[in-house]
Amino acid sequence: MFEEPTIGIIGGSGWLGRSIALAMLDKVFIQPDALVLSNRSASNPLSSPKWSQVTVTRDNQELVERCDVVIVSVRPEQFADVQIFAENKLVISLMAGVPLEDLVQSTGCRQVIRAMANAAAEIGKSYTPWLATQEVTDEQKAFAQRLFETFGSADEVFTESDLNYLTALVGTGPAYPALLAHSMLEHALNSGLPPDIAHRAVNAVVVDASQLIGNGHSVDELLQALISYRGVTAAGLEAMIANGFDKIIKAGLDSATSVASSMSSIAHSADTKEGPMTR
Ligand SMILES: NC(=O)c1ccc[n+]([C@@H]2O[C@H](COP(=O)([O-])OP(=O)(O)OC[C@H]3O[C@@H](n4cnc5c(N)ncnc54)[C@H](OP(=O)(O)O)[C@@H]3O)[C@@H](O)[C@H]2O)c1
Repeated sequence: MFEEPTIGIIGGSGWLGRSIALAMLDKVFIQPDALVLSNRSASNPLSSPKWSQVTVTRDNQELVERCDVVIVSVRPEQFADVQIFAENKLVISLMAGVPLEDLVQSTGCRQVIRAMANAAAEIGKSYTPWLATQEVTDEQKAFAQRLFETFGSADEVFTESDLNYLTALVGTGPAYPALLAHSMLEHALNSGLPPDIAHRAVNAVVVDASQLIGNGHSVDELLQALISYRGVTAAGLEAMIANGFDKIIKAGLDSATSVASSMSSIAHSADTKEGPMTR
């Protein structure tokens, strides 16, 4: 089954679904004629004639029947309308906050992986933690890991609470660095820098210089070395830390984790009250 599987992406024209489809095709992880995408509009997200053999359908159940692996990449609130029966397939959900048990009940499939990718899939740099039901075989796990590596790196995790935490930490993709860039930009503009210089300077710090992290230096080593240097950088870092930088980051991550966890429990209690959505 996993030598040359057919793969379907429900929501294959979305931000994440399209990025993943293109990553799998570009890396030759899958041939175009083995890929099926679905959405409600039947719009084809892959404009290149190179990918003309990819199938696009409006019918999610047709996609399931044609595929060994079914990736669900619709928004969580759109999932109730998806209505698939995918027994004996491998289902991979990318939806934030939909627990494994709900996915099993909703799809009729016991072999389910819940994964949390992020927007950096578009540039092949998503970090994608994932969690599997007990019924997922080692072969299927190895396949899923290779699939996730077509758009970045990935790790298996073993509890739903770890995945909810990681939803808050990595599912947010560029959001937290973007907020840092926004604050720096405001400060630079308020200090009177010309806007084009301010934009380039902030970009050079947040995007370019940050690539030194992990490039032979751990975060702690880098910070310690910069603080011991006792210069301008140390003054900036020490004032940020003294003014509650850690506290602000903790508050943000706690709040995002709490929303990710409550999405998970709301989805689950709604499902258990109303009964399974399995068609
Ligand atoms: N984007 C991110 O950075 C990111 C990060 C972490 C997690 N995620 C997760 O990834 C999932 C997808 O997010 P996204 O940003 O890619 O959303 P999106 O851009 O809104 O894409 C959703 C896709 O689903 C399709 N769709 C909606 N209802 C459908 C249905 N009933 N049947 C078939 N297709 C349907 C839409 O196309 P039509 O309108 O034509 O139907 C669209 O292609 C979400 O669950 C989100 O939690 C996304």
